Amino acid sequence: MENFTFYSPTKFVFGKETEKETGSFVKSFGGSRVLIHYGGGSAVRSGLIDRVKDSLKKEGLFFVELGGVKPNPRSGLVYDGIELCKSNDIDFIVAVGGGSAIDSAKAIAAGVLYDGDFWDFYSGKKGIEKALPVGTVLTIAAAGSEGSGDSVITKEEGMYKRGTGSEALRPKFSILNPELTTTLPAFQTACGITDIMAHLYERYLTNSKDVEVTDRLIEALLITMKNEAPKVMKDLKDYQARANIMWAGTMAHTNSCGVGRSQDWNSHNIEHELSGLYDCAHGAGLAVTMPAVFTYVKDHDIARFEQVAKRVWGVDTAEEGIEAFRQFLISIGMPSTLGDLGGSEEDIPTLVKNLCYGDGRDGSISGFVTLNEEDCANIYRMMI
Ligand code: NZQ
Ligand code: ZN
Repeated sequence: MENFTFYSPTKFVFGKETEKETGSFVKSFGGSRVLIHYGGGSAVRSGLIDRVKDSLKKEGLFFVELGGVKPNPRSGLVYDGIELCKSNDIDFIVAVGGGSAIDSAKAIAAGVLYDGDFWDFYSGKKGIEKALPVGTVLTIAAAGSEGSGDSVITKEEGMYKRGTGSEALRPKFSILNPELTTTLPAFQTACGITDIMAHLYERYLTNSKDVEVTDRLIEALLITMKNEAPKVMKDLKDYQARANIMWAGTMAHTNSCGVGRSQDWNSHNIEHELSGLYDCAHGAGLAVTMPAVFTYVKDHDIARFEQVAKRVWGVDTAEEGIEAFRQFLISIGMPSTLGDLGGSEEDIPTLVKNLCYGDGRDGSISGFVTLNEEDCANIYRMMI
């Protein structure tokens, strides 16, 4: 195991009706002038935004709102949010929604306190040192942004999708009420399940030795997802299955099971070009990407793939483990080819160029295995 520092200061509040306490948590973390930031309308239609507003009013807090965050959140709304915060002296941002609303809120939070262009953080030009405090009310178990210091934004010019990370972006509090996720349609539910499992696999694929404790934590979470997913896909209102998946999603990405070990993230980088170019759901893109990446890199450490095959999927070989995972993804309704995402072979040169050279990259991506342009093209071809 490698040396590590683990800092995960988010206050997690879990359970039914907990969103009614949003205002009191904002106050307890020193907020008085709030931006409520949310997506395309699901949280308005369900009445959740009204409940959050009521809780802020109850505490006597000033607020303004900015909806309209799209899945794969765009830079344009971030600039709008930064201006809105500056003109209203906002000192706290509450994101209501999933990874997209939360990531957009984090970008605004960092951008407000920065003199330059907030995209500098995402192009790797600058690190984030400070940000306004952010709280979240989560409506989809997926990205894990409610417990992470990460944010992923798509720049409209060029449709580059890039991520950044900083301790300053970790939410002060995150409200996790599994009931809020019961309005999710089957497809979005399955996309979330896929993303959670991807966050586990990205950490599982490591070059560090003697990482038994984190290996076992990841395997436990993968087994939980494997068992709970069919329950929720059968009954989208199954509270207990939703609850288990929601907490697994947060645990998968706070990095508690990724400490002390190198991690991969090549599947995420390869996928981000897909959701950048096709505007597909991140989880759907990952379902197409992961089996291809795993098959391409498995010989780098076949024993690791055999281990997860045996311990999680109950099969013997690396190949059988990858196939079991692929079949599981298909069983929950996920796509399996580039064509399913709306893409084709002709797009591969663009995908590879954006992946290997877009915004600051030098011709390859690194992780479990370093992948050059040719490797990336081969992997995209395996998705056809
Ligand atoms: O916009 P609304 O109307 O809210 O609809 C959303 C959206 O269409 C809908 N939805 C969310 N909660 C719902 C609901 N519909 C009905 N009932 C509910 N309770 O679901 C759709 C997807 O929402 P989104 O926020 O985009 O989903 P997700 O949480 O998967 O976030 C995806 C984004 O997070 C990034 C991804 O790249 C992607 O841009 N990621 C962020 C990470 C991080 N910050 O740590 C890590 C991840 O790996 C990921 O890259
Ligand atoms: Zn992800």
